[in-house]
Amino acid sequence: MTEIRSPRSGVLRMGNEALLAGLCVAFIGCGAPPPTNQPEAIAETTSALEPTVNLSGFAETLHETGAIDRTNPFFQALGTNPRTCETCHSSATGWGTNSISNTLQFLLSAGTGPLFNLVDSGTRPDADISTFPARVATFGDVVLKRGLTRFSRAINPAAEFSLIAVSDPYGFSTTTTFSGFRRPTPTANERKTSTILSTSAPAAGSDVPAQLKTILPGGVRLHEQGAVPATQAQADAAGEFMVGVYFAQTVDFKAGRLDSDGANGGPAALMAQPFYLGINGSPTDPVTGLPPNPNVFNIYDGWSKYAGLGNDGSPQSARGAIYRGQVVFNTAGHCSGCHNSPNVGGHSTPVFFNTGTADPENCGADLPVLTLQNKSSGETKLTCDPGRALSTGLWADIGKFRASPLRGLASRAPYFHDGQAATINDVIQHYQARFSLGLTTQQISDLATFLNAL
Ligand code: HEC
Ligand code: HEC
Repeated sequence: MTEIRSPRSGVLRMGNEALLAGLCVAFIGCGAPPPTNQPEAIAETTSALEPTVNLSGFAETLHETGAIDRTNPFFQALGTNPRTCETCHSSATGWGTNSISNTLQFLLSAGTGPLFNLVDSGTRPDADISTFPARVATFGDVVLKRGLTRFSRAINPAAEFSLIAVSDPYGFSTTTTFSGFRRPTPTANERKTSTILSTSAPAAGSDVPAQLKTILPGGVRLHEQGAVPATQAQADAAGEFMVGVYFAQTVDFKAGRLDSDGANGGPAALMAQPFYLGINGSPTDPVTGLPPNPNVFNIYDGWSKYAGLGNDGSPQSARGAIYRGQVVFNTAGHCSGCHNSPNVGGHSTPVFFNTGTADPENCGADLPVLTLQNKSSGETKLTCDPGRALSTGLWADIGKFRASPLRGLASRAPYFHDGQAATINDVIQHYQARFSLGLTTQQISDLATFLNAL
Protein backbone atom coordinates (compact mmCIF):
# COMPACT_ATOMS: atom_id res chain seq x y z
CA MET A 1 0.00 0.00 0.00
CA THR A 2 1.49 3.33 -1.02
CA GLU A 3 0.25 6.41 0.76
CA ILE A 4 0.73 9.78 -0.79
CA ARG A 5 -0.21 12.85 1.17
CA SER A 6 -1.30 15.77 -0.89
CA PRO A 7 -2.06 19.01 0.96
CA ARG A 8 -5.32 19.85 -0.76
CA SER A 9 -6.65 16.74 -2.40
CA GLY A 10 -6.17 14.74 0.78
CA VAL A 11 -4.65 11.30 0.92
CA LEU A 12 -4.51 9.02 -2.08
CA ARG A 13 -4.27 5.41 -1.02
CA MET A 14 -3.13 2.98 -3.58
CA GLY A 15 -2.84 -0.78 -3.37
CA ASN A 16 -1.11 -2.45 -6.28
CA GLU A 17 -4.30 -2.86 -8.27
CA ALA A 18 -5.36 0.71 -7.74
CA LEU A 19 -1.85 1.86 -8.59
CA LEU A 20 -2.03 -0.01 -11.88
CA ALA A 21 -5.46 1.40 -12.63
CA GLY A 22 -4.11 4.81 -11.65
CA LEU A 23 -1.18 4.37 -14.02
CA CYS A 24 -3.55 3.63 -16.87
CA VAL A 25 -5.77 6.60 -16.13
CA ALA A 26 -2.80 8.86 -15.64
CA PHE A 27 -1.07 7.84 -18.81
CA ILE A 28 -4.23 7.68 -20.87
CA GLY A 29 -6.04 10.80 -19.71
CA CYS A 30 -6.34 12.66 -22.96
CA GLY A 31 -10.08 13.05 -23.12
CA ALA A 32 -10.87 9.41 -22.42
CA PRO A 33 -13.95 9.32 -20.18
CA PRO A 34 -12.84 8.53 -16.62
CA PRO A 35 -13.68 4.98 -15.53
CA THR A 36 -16.64 5.03 -13.14
CA ASN A 37 -14.83 3.01 -10.46
CA GLN A 38 -12.27 5.77 -9.89
CA PRO A 39 -12.33 7.01 -6.29
CA GLU A 40 -11.87 10.58 -7.50
CA ALA A 41 -14.02 10.38 -10.66
CA ILE A 42 -13.80 13.64 -12.50
CA ALA A 43 -16.85 15.78 -11.88
CA GLU A 44 -17.58 18.98 -13.76
CA THR A 45 -15.33 20.90 -11.43
CA THR A 46 -12.51 19.22 -9.57
CA SER A 47 -10.33 20.57 -6.80
CA ALA A 48 -7.44 22.79 -7.76
CA LEU A 49 -4.99 19.91 -7.46
CA GLU A 50 -5.04 17.10 -9.98
CA PRO A 51 -2.33 14.47 -9.41
CA THR A 52 -0.83 12.18 -12.02
CA VAL A 53 1.89 9.54 -12.04
CA ASN A 54 4.96 9.19 -14.27
CA LEU A 55 8.06 7.04 -14.34
CA SER A 56 9.86 9.23 -11.75
CA GLY A 57 7.05 9.85 -9.30
CA PHE A 58 3.98 12.06 -9.12
CA ALA A 59 3.23 15.43 -10.64
CA GLU A 60 0.34 17.77 -9.94
CA THR A 61 -1.70 20.44 -11.62
CA LEU A 62 -2.68 23.44 -9.53
CA HIS A 63 -5.07 26.02 -10.98
CA GLU A 64 -4.75 29.60 -9.81
CA THR A 65 -8.55 29.96 -9.50
CA GLY A 66 -8.61 27.18 -6.92
CA ALA A 67 -10.52 24.77 -9.18
CA ILE A 68 -10.17 23.01 -12.50
CA ASP A 69 -13.33 23.92 -14.37
CA ARG A 70 -14.08 21.01 -16.65
CA THR A 71 -17.02 22.85 -18.19
CA ASN A 72 -14.50 25.13 -19.95
CA PRO A 73 -14.54 24.98 -23.80
CA PHE A 74 -11.00 23.54 -23.52
CA PHE A 75 -12.62 20.27 -22.36
CA GLN A 76 -15.56 20.30 -24.80
CA ALA A 77 -15.76 18.53 -28.16
CA LEU A 78 -16.52 21.57 -30.30
CA GLY A 79 -15.90 20.01 -33.68
CA THR A 80 -17.20 17.05 -35.67
CA ASN A 81 -14.84 14.43 -34.21
CA PRO A 82 -14.74 13.23 -30.57
CA ARG A 83 -11.59 15.20 -29.73
CA THR A 84 -11.19 18.04 -27.25
CA CYS A 85 -8.10 20.12 -26.52
CA GLU A 86 -7.40 17.56 -23.80
CA THR A 87 -6.77 14.89 -26.45
CA CYS A 88 -3.30 16.44 -26.86
CA HIS A 89 -3.09 18.64 -23.76
CA SER A 90 -4.01 16.45 -20.79
CA SER A 91 -3.19 17.06 -17.13
CA ALA A 92 -2.31 13.34 -16.98
CA THR A 93 0.59 13.94 -19.36
CA GLY A 94 1.78 17.37 -18.20
CA TRP A 95 -0.71 19.22 -20.44
CA GLY A 96 0.96 17.74 -23.49
CA THR A 97 1.18 14.07 -24.49
CA ASN A 98 3.69 11.30 -23.86
CA SER A 99 4.61 8.21 -25.79
CA ILE A 100 3.51 5.77 -23.08
CA SER A 101 0.04 7.32 -22.96
CA ASN A 102 -0.22 7.43 -26.74
CA THR A 103 0.77 3.77 -26.91
CA LEU A 104 -1.72 2.71 -24.23
CA GLN A 105 -4.49 4.62 -25.99
CA PHE A 106 -3.52 2.92 -29.23
CA LEU A 107 -3.56 -0.56 -27.72
CA LEU A 108 -6.82 -0.05 -25.82
CA SER A 109 -8.63 1.28 -28.90
CA ALA A 110 -6.84 -0.97 -31.44
CA GLY A 111 -5.64 2.27 -33.00
CA THR A 112 -9.05 3.88 -33.46
CA GLY A 113 -9.21 6.31 -30.48
CA PRO A 114 -9.73 10.06 -30.97
CA LEU A 115 -6.00 10.79 -31.20
CA PHE A 116 -5.56 8.44 -34.17
CA ASN A 117 -7.23 10.61 -36.75
CA LEU A 118 -5.54 11.08 -40.11
CA VAL A 119 -6.50 14.74 -40.15
CA ASP A 120 -3.28 15.53 -38.26
CA SER A 121 -1.94 12.22 -36.92
CA GLY A 122 0.06 9.53 -38.65
CA THR A 123 2.39 9.43 -41.59
CA ARG A 124 0.17 11.08 -44.25
CA PRO A 125 -3.48 12.21 -44.59
CA ASP A 126 -4.41 9.36 -46.92
CA ALA A 127 -2.51 6.56 -45.12
CA ASP A 128 -3.96 3.06 -44.92
CA ILE A 129 -5.79 2.54 -41.61
CA SER A 130 -8.05 -0.30 -42.71
CA THR A 131 -6.42 -3.02 -40.57
CA PHE A 132 -4.59 -3.12 -37.23
CA PRO A 133 -1.19 -3.79 -38.86
CA ALA A 134 -1.81 -0.90 -41.25
CA ARG A 135 -2.62 1.36 -38.30
CA VAL A 136 0.59 0.26 -36.56
CA ALA A 137 2.53 1.29 -39.68
CA THR A 138 0.68 4.61 -39.93
CA PHE A 139 0.88 5.70 -36.28
CA GLY A 140 3.74 3.63 -34.80
CA ASP A 141 6.85 5.74 -35.39
CA VAL A 142 5.15 9.10 -35.72
CA VAL A 143 2.55 9.08 -32.93
CA LEU A 144 3.48 6.25 -30.53
CA LYS A 145 7.26 6.58 -30.55
CA ARG A 146 7.71 10.30 -31.23
CA GLY A 147 4.34 11.71 -30.09
CA LEU A 148 3.95 13.96 -33.12
CA THR A 149 1.12 15.94 -34.68
CA ARG A 150 1.28 16.53 -38.44
CA PHE A 151 0.83 19.99 -39.97
CA SER A 152 0.52 20.90 -43.62
CA ARG A 153 3.19 23.50 -44.31
CA ALA A 154 4.35 25.72 -47.13
CA ILE A 155 7.28 28.13 -47.39
CA ASN A 156 6.20 31.76 -47.56
CA PRO A 157 6.99 33.02 -51.10
CA ALA A 158 8.45 36.17 -49.50
CA ALA A 159 11.02 34.13 -47.50
CA GLU A 160 14.76 34.57 -48.14
CA PHE A 161 14.85 30.93 -49.24
CA SER A 162 12.84 28.46 -51.27
CA LEU A 163 12.17 24.76 -50.88
CA ILE A 164 13.84 23.02 -53.80
CA ALA A 165 13.55 19.35 -52.77
CA VAL A 166 11.88 17.13 -50.13
CA SER A 167 12.78 13.61 -49.16
CA ASP A 168 9.67 12.34 -47.37
CA PRO A 169 9.87 8.77 -45.97
CA TYR A 170 6.10 8.60 -46.45
CA GLY A 171 6.17 9.88 -50.03
CA PHE A 172 3.61 12.62 -49.47
CA SER A 173 5.36 16.01 -49.31
CA THR A 174 6.07 18.14 -52.37
CA THR A 175 8.01 21.37 -52.66
CA THR A 176 4.66 23.23 -52.62
CA THR A 177 3.16 21.56 -49.52
CA PHE A 178 5.08 19.45 -47.05
CA SER A 179 4.31 17.62 -43.80
CA GLY A 180 5.80 19.28 -40.71
CA PHE A 181 5.74 17.24 -37.50
CA ARG A 182 5.77 18.72 -33.99
CA ARG A 183 5.25 17.62 -30.39
CA PRO A 184 2.31 19.25 -28.58
CA THR A 185 3.88 21.86 -26.28
CA PRO A 186 2.36 21.99 -22.77
CA THR A 187 -0.53 24.35 -22.04
CA ALA A 188 0.76 24.92 -18.50
CA ASN A 189 2.91 27.42 -16.60
CA GLU A 190 2.05 29.98 -19.26
CA ARG A 191 2.27 32.98 -16.91
CA LYS A 192 5.95 32.21 -16.52
CA THR A 193 6.90 32.17 -20.22
CA SER A 194 7.71 34.75 -22.88
CA THR A 195 6.46 32.64 -25.81
CA ILE A 196 4.09 29.80 -26.66
CA LEU A 197 4.54 27.08 -29.33
CA SER A 198 8.02 26.00 -30.44
CA THR A 199 8.64 28.86 -32.83
CA SER A 200 6.13 31.67 -32.36
CA ALA A 201 6.53 35.03 -30.64
CA PRO A 202 3.67 37.25 -29.46
CA ALA A 203 2.87 39.98 -32.00
CA ALA A 204 4.05 43.50 -31.15
CA GLY A 205 1.91 44.90 -28.35
CA SER A 206 0.63 41.44 -27.39
CA ASP A 207 1.80 38.98 -24.78
CA VAL A 208 1.33 35.34 -23.82
CA PRO A 209 -1.96 35.77 -21.87
CA ALA A 210 -3.44 37.74 -24.79
CA GLN A 211 -2.10 35.29 -27.38
CA LEU A 212 -3.64 32.37 -25.48
CA LYS A 213 -7.09 33.90 -26.07
CA THR A 214 -6.56 33.57 -29.83
CA ILE A 215 -5.69 29.86 -29.99
CA LEU A 216 -8.88 27.83 -29.47
CA PRO A 217 -10.71 28.59 -32.77
CA GLY A 218 -7.77 27.39 -34.89
CA GLY A 219 -7.40 24.28 -32.74
CA VAL A 220 -11.10 23.48 -33.10
CA ARG A 221 -10.98 23.93 -36.87
CA LEU A 222 -7.76 21.99 -37.38
CA HIS A 223 -7.66 19.27 -34.72
CA GLU A 224 -11.36 18.87 -33.93
CA GLN A 225 -12.51 19.28 -37.57
CA GLY A 226 -14.92 22.01 -36.49
CA ALA A 227 -17.73 22.83 -38.90
CA VAL A 228 -18.94 25.83 -36.91
CA PRO A 229 -16.33 28.45 -35.97
CA ALA A 230 -15.70 28.71 -32.22
CA THR A 231 -16.80 32.03 -30.72
CA GLN A 232 -14.53 34.70 -29.25
CA ALA A 233 -16.21 34.06 -25.88
CA GLN A 234 -15.12 30.42 -26.07
CA ALA A 235 -11.61 31.46 -27.13
CA ASP A 236 -11.38 33.94 -24.23
CA ALA A 237 -12.60 31.35 -21.74
CA ALA A 238 -10.04 28.78 -22.95
CA GLY A 239 -7.29 31.42 -22.80
CA GLU A 240 -8.21 32.34 -19.23
CA PHE A 241 -8.27 28.68 -18.27
CA MET A 242 -4.90 27.88 -19.83
CA VAL A 243 -3.08 30.84 -18.33
CA GLY A 244 -4.05 29.71 -14.81
CA VAL A 245 -2.66 26.17 -15.05
CA TYR A 246 0.49 25.24 -13.11
CA PHE A 247 2.09 21.83 -13.46
CA ALA A 248 5.20 20.41 -11.79
CA GLN A 249 6.61 17.24 -10.23
CA THR A 250 5.61 16.92 -6.56
CA VAL A 251 6.88 13.52 -5.49
CA ASP A 252 10.01 11.65 -6.55
CA PHE A 253 9.80 7.90 -5.92
CA LYS A 254 13.26 7.94 -4.32
CA ALA A 255 13.51 11.41 -2.76
CA GLY A 256 9.92 11.77 -1.52
CA ARG A 257 7.99 15.04 -1.54
CA LEU A 258 9.81 17.67 -3.54
CA ASP A 259 8.39 20.51 -1.44
CA SER A 260 9.55 19.18 1.92
CA ASP A 261 12.67 19.42 4.06
CA GLY A 262 13.57 22.88 2.75
CA ALA A 263 12.98 22.21 -0.98
CA ASN A 264 10.58 24.24 -3.15
CA GLY A 265 9.49 21.85 -5.92
CA GLY A 266 5.86 21.45 -6.96
CA PRO A 267 3.30 23.74 -8.59
CA ALA A 268 2.48 25.98 -5.59
CA ALA A 269 6.01 27.37 -5.31
CA LEU A 270 6.09 27.67 -9.10
CA MET A 271 2.92 29.76 -9.06
CA ALA A 272 4.59 32.11 -6.57
CA GLN A 273 7.78 32.36 -8.65
CA PRO A 274 8.36 35.93 -9.91
CA PHE A 275 8.42 36.30 -13.70
CA TYR A 276 8.49 39.27 -16.04
CA LEU A 277 9.77 39.72 -19.57
CA GLY A 278 13.55 39.88 -19.53
CA ILE A 279 13.99 38.55 -15.98
CA ASN A 280 17.57 37.37 -15.49
CA GLY A 281 18.25 38.38 -19.10
CA SER A 282 21.29 39.87 -20.76
CA PRO A 283 22.97 42.23 -20.71
CA THR A 284 20.94 43.11 -17.59
CA ASP A 285 17.61 42.37 -15.95
CA PRO A 286 15.30 45.33 -16.75
CA VAL A 287 14.01 45.56 -13.16
CA THR A 288 17.02 44.77 -11.00
CA GLY A 289 19.67 46.05 -13.41
CA LEU A 290 21.78 42.99 -12.58
CA PRO A 291 23.68 40.87 -15.12
CA PRO A 292 22.40 37.29 -15.66
CA ASN A 293 22.80 34.93 -12.73
CA PRO A 294 23.75 31.43 -13.95
CA ASN A 295 22.09 29.91 -10.86
CA VAL A 296 18.76 29.79 -12.68
CA PHE A 297 17.37 27.05 -10.45
CA ASN A 298 17.56 27.29 -6.65
CA ILE A 299 14.48 25.31 -5.58
CA TYR A 300 16.67 22.47 -4.33
CA ASP A 301 19.22 24.62 -2.44
CA GLY A 302 17.72 23.31 0.80
CA TRP A 303 19.07 19.85 -0.05
CA SER A 304 22.71 20.95 -0.36
CA LYS A 305 23.17 19.39 3.10
CA TYR A 306 22.87 15.95 1.44
CA ALA A 307 25.24 16.65 -1.48
CA GLY A 308 28.04 14.55 0.01
CA LEU A 309 25.97 11.41 0.58
CA GLY A 310 26.64 8.55 -1.81
CA ASN A 311 23.91 6.53 -3.42
CA ASP A 312 22.81 4.49 -0.40
CA GLY A 313 19.17 4.20 -1.44
CA SER A 314 17.93 6.56 1.28
CA PRO A 315 15.62 9.51 0.49
CA GLN A 316 18.40 11.78 1.74
CA SER A 317 20.92 10.47 -0.79
CA ALA A 318 18.31 10.85 -3.56
CA ARG A 319 17.81 14.47 -2.42
CA GLY A 320 21.56 14.97 -2.58
CA ALA A 321 21.56 13.74 -6.20
CA ILE A 322 18.78 16.17 -7.15
CA TYR A 323 20.73 19.04 -5.56
CA ARG A 324 23.96 18.03 -7.34
CA GLY A 325 22.03 17.86 -10.63
CA GLN A 326 20.79 21.40 -10.06
CA VAL A 327 24.40 22.50 -9.64
CA VAL A 328 25.38 20.76 -12.91
CA PHE A 329 22.52 22.56 -14.69
CA ASN A 330 23.63 25.95 -13.34
CA THR A 331 27.37 25.44 -13.88
CA ALA A 332 29.14 22.62 -15.80
CA GLY A 333 26.16 21.98 -18.11
CA HIS A 334 26.04 25.62 -19.27
CA CYS A 335 22.26 25.24 -19.51
CA SER A 336 21.40 28.60 -17.91
CA GLY A 337 22.39 30.89 -20.74
CA CYS A 338 19.48 29.76 -22.88
CA HIS A 339 17.16 28.37 -20.18
CA ASN A 340 17.49 31.61 -18.15
CA SER A 341 14.06 32.07 -16.61
CA PRO A 342 14.42 31.48 -12.83
CA ASN A 343 13.01 28.15 -11.64
CA VAL A 344 11.03 27.76 -14.89
CA GLY A 345 13.72 27.24 -17.50
CA GLY A 346 12.34 28.92 -20.60
CA HIS A 347 14.05 31.99 -22.05
CA SER A 348 12.69 35.18 -20.51
CA THR A 349 12.44 37.02 -23.84
CA PRO A 350 11.25 35.71 -27.24
CA VAL A 351 14.63 34.55 -28.56
CA PHE A 352 15.29 31.42 -30.61
CA PHE A 353 18.32 29.13 -30.71
CA ASN A 354 19.73 26.56 -33.09
CA THR A 355 21.01 23.59 -31.12
CA GLY A 356 21.14 21.25 -34.11
CA THR A 357 17.83 19.51 -33.38
CA ALA A 358 16.56 20.06 -36.93
CA ASP A 359 19.75 18.76 -38.57
CA PRO A 360 18.98 15.58 -40.52
CA GLU A 361 21.50 13.49 -38.57
CA ASN A 362 19.54 14.28 -35.38
CA CYS A 363 15.93 14.29 -36.58
CA GLY A 364 16.43 10.90 -38.16
CA ALA A 365 14.72 8.69 -40.68
CA ASP A 366 11.15 9.20 -39.43
CA LEU A 367 10.76 12.75 -40.76
CA PRO A 368 10.79 14.50 -44.15
CA VAL A 369 14.12 16.21 -44.93
CA LEU A 370 13.85 19.54 -46.76
CA THR A 371 16.45 21.12 -49.03
CA LEU A 372 16.20 24.89 -48.65
CA GLN A 373 18.02 27.26 -50.98
CA ASN A 374 19.03 30.82 -50.20
CA LYS A 375 17.56 32.98 -52.97
CA SER A 376 20.47 35.43 -53.08
CA SER A 377 23.56 33.30 -52.37
CA GLY A 378 22.34 30.02 -53.86
CA GLU A 379 23.62 28.20 -50.77
CA THR A 380 21.58 25.15 -49.68
CA LYS A 381 20.73 23.72 -46.25
CA LEU A 382 19.19 20.39 -45.27
CA THR A 383 16.72 20.48 -42.40
CA CYS A 384 13.81 18.51 -40.95
CA ASP A 385 12.11 21.71 -39.76
CA PRO A 386 12.78 25.32 -40.78
CA GLY A 387 11.91 26.26 -37.17
CA ARG A 388 11.59 29.98 -36.50
CA ALA A 389 12.29 30.69 -40.19
CA LEU A 390 8.80 29.34 -41.00
CA SER A 391 7.43 32.54 -39.43
CA THR A 392 10.16 35.08 -40.20
CA GLY A 393 11.35 33.82 -43.61
CA LEU A 394 14.92 34.60 -42.51
CA TRP A 395 17.74 32.31 -43.64
CA ALA A 396 19.50 32.84 -40.30
CA ASP A 397 16.46 31.55 -38.40
CA ILE A 398 16.43 28.08 -40.00
CA GLY A 399 16.55 25.38 -37.33
CA LYS A 400 15.93 27.80 -34.43
CA PHE A 401 13.46 27.00 -31.65
CA ARG A 402 12.57 28.53 -28.31
CA ALA A 403 14.47 27.22 -25.28
CA SER A 404 11.63 25.17 -23.82
CA PRO A 405 10.31 25.79 -20.31
CA LEU A 406 11.46 22.80 -18.26
CA ARG A 407 8.93 22.16 -15.47
CA GLY A 408 6.96 18.89 -15.48
CA LEU A 409 9.42 17.20 -17.88
CA ALA A 410 8.99 13.70 -16.42
CA SER A 411 5.39 13.59 -17.67
CA ARG A 412 6.05 14.41 -21.30
CA ALA A 413 8.73 12.23 -22.93
CA PRO A 414 9.87 12.20 -25.72
CA TYR A 415 11.61 15.57 -25.95
CA PHE A 416 12.52 18.39 -28.35
CA HIS A 417 10.16 19.78 -31.00
CA ASP A 418 9.99 16.46 -32.83
CA GLY A 419 10.35 13.89 -30.05
CA GLN A 420 13.81 12.84 -31.26
CA ALA A 421 15.10 12.38 -27.68
CA ALA A 422 13.26 9.41 -26.16
CA THR A 423 14.48 10.08 -22.62
CA ILE A 424 16.04 12.80 -20.48
CA ASN A 425 19.33 10.95 -20.84
CA ASP A 426 19.08 11.29 -24.62
CA VAL A 427 18.55 15.04 -24.17
CA ILE A 428 21.69 15.28 -22.05
CA GLN A 429 23.69 13.18 -24.54
CA HIS A 430 22.61 15.61 -27.29
CA TYR A 431 24.08 18.56 -25.38
CA GLN A 432 27.13 16.60 -24.27
CA ALA A 433 27.99 16.01 -27.95
CA ARG A 434 26.81 19.37 -29.30
CA PHE A 435 28.73 21.52 -26.81
CA SER A 436 31.52 19.04 -25.92
CA LEU A 437 30.52 19.41 -22.29
CA GLY A 438 32.69 16.62 -20.93
CA LEU A 439 30.21 15.79 -18.16
CA THR A 440 31.13 12.73 -16.10
CA THR A 441 28.81 9.72 -15.77
CA GLN A 442 27.99 10.92 -12.25
CA GLN A 443 27.17 14.45 -13.43
CA ILE A 444 24.94 13.08 -16.21
CA SER A 445 23.10 10.86 -13.77
CA ASP A 446 22.63 13.72 -11.26
CA LEU A 447 21.47 16.12 -13.98
CA ALA A 448 18.90 13.57 -15.21
CA THR A 449 17.66 13.05 -11.64
CA PHE A 450 17.26 16.81 -11.24
CA LEU A 451 15.47 17.30 -14.58
CA ASN A 452 13.05 14.49 -13.71
CA ALA A 453 12.27 16.29 -10.43
CA LEU A 454 11.11 19.51 -12.11
C1 HEC B 1 -3.94 16.54 -32.24
C2 HEC B 1 -3.23 17.18 -31.17
C3 HEC B 1 -3.67 18.56 -30.70
C4 HEC B 1 -4.92 18.94 -30.27
C5 HEC B 1 -6.20 18.15 -30.26
C6 HEC B 1 -4.76 20.29 -29.78
N1 HEC B 1 -3.46 20.69 -29.88
FE1 HEC B 1 -2.67 22.37 -29.10
N2 HEC B 1 -0.82 21.85 -29.79
C7 HEC B 1 -0.57 20.75 -30.57
C8 HEC B 1 0.79 20.83 -31.06
C9 HEC B 1 1.48 19.82 -31.93
C10 HEC B 1 1.34 22.02 -30.54
C11 HEC B 1 2.76 22.57 -30.77
C12 HEC B 1 2.88 23.14 -32.16
C13 HEC B 1 4.17 23.87 -32.40
O1 HEC B 1 5.01 23.93 -31.52
O2 HEC B 1 4.32 24.39 -33.50
C14 HEC B 1 0.30 22.62 -29.73
C15 HEC B 1 0.47 23.79 -28.99
C16 HEC B 1 -0.55 24.44 -28.33
C17 HEC B 1 -0.38 25.63 -27.52
C18 HEC B 1 0.93 26.29 -27.17
C19 HEC B 1 1.32 25.96 -25.74
C20 HEC B 1 2.67 26.52 -25.34
O3 HEC B 1 2.77 27.18 -24.30
O4 HEC B 1 3.64 26.29 -26.07
C21 HEC B 1 -1.62 26.01 -27.11
C22 HEC B 1 -1.94 27.21 -26.25
C23 HEC B 1 -2.56 25.04 -27.62
N3 HEC B 1 -1.87 24.09 -28.34
C24 HEC B 1 -3.92 25.10 -27.40
C25 HEC B 1 -4.82 24.13 -27.88
C26 HEC B 1 -6.24 24.26 -27.73
C27 HEC B 1 -6.96 25.43 -27.07
C28 HEC B 1 -6.78 23.12 -28.27
C29 HEC B 1 -8.24 22.77 -28.40
C30 HEC B 1 -9.00 23.59 -29.31
C31 HEC B 1 -5.68 22.31 -28.75
N4 HEC B 1 -4.50 22.96 -28.51
C32 HEC B 1 -5.82 21.05 -29.31
C33 HEC B 1 -1.42 19.68 -30.80
C34 HEC B 1 -2.77 19.66 -30.47
C1 HEC C 1 22.12 27.32 -26.97
C2 HEC C 1 20.94 27.34 -26.15
C3 HEC C 1 20.66 26.15 -25.26
C4 HEC C 1 21.48 25.57 -24.31
C5 HEC C 1 22.90 25.95 -23.94
C6 HEC C 1 20.71 24.51 -23.71
N1 HEC C 1 19.47 24.44 -24.27
FE1 HEC C 1 18.02 23.11 -23.79
N2 HEC C 1 16.88 23.80 -25.31
C7 HEC C 1 17.24 24.81 -26.18
C8 HEC C 1 16.33 24.83 -27.29
C9 HEC C 1 16.37 25.79 -28.47
C10 HEC C 1 15.42 23.79 -27.07
C11 HEC C 1 14.27 23.36 -28.00
C12 HEC C 1 14.89 22.46 -29.09
C13 HEC C 1 13.87 21.73 -29.90
O1 HEC C 1 12.70 21.69 -29.49
O2 HEC C 1 14.22 21.17 -30.93
C14 HEC C 1 15.78 23.17 -25.81
C15 HEC C 1 15.10 22.09 -25.25
C16 HEC C 1 15.47 21.45 -24.10
C17 HEC C 1 14.76 20.36 -23.49
C18 HEC C 1 13.50 19.68 -24.04
C19 HEC C 1 12.25 20.20 -23.39
C20 HEC C 1 11.01 19.56 -23.96
O3 HEC C 1 9.94 19.82 -23.39
O4 HEC C 1 11.07 18.85 -24.98
C21 HEC C 1 15.43 20.03 -22.35
C22 HEC C 1 15.05 18.95 -21.36
C23 HEC C 1 16.59 20.88 -22.28
N3 HEC C 1 16.59 21.74 -23.34
C24 HEC C 1 17.53 20.83 -21.28
C25 HEC C 1 18.77 21.47 -21.36
C26 HEC C 1 19.88 21.17 -20.50
C27 HEC C 1 19.88 20.15 -19.38
C28 HEC C 1 20.92 21.96 -20.92
C29 HEC C 1 22.35 21.98 -20.41
C30 HEC C 1 23.03 20.70 -20.47
C31 HEC C 1 20.43 22.76 -22.03
N4 HEC C 1 19.14 22.44 -22.26
C32 HEC C 1 21.20 23.69 -22.71
C33 HEC C 1 18.31 25.66 -26.03
C34 HEC C 1 19.41 25.41 -25.22
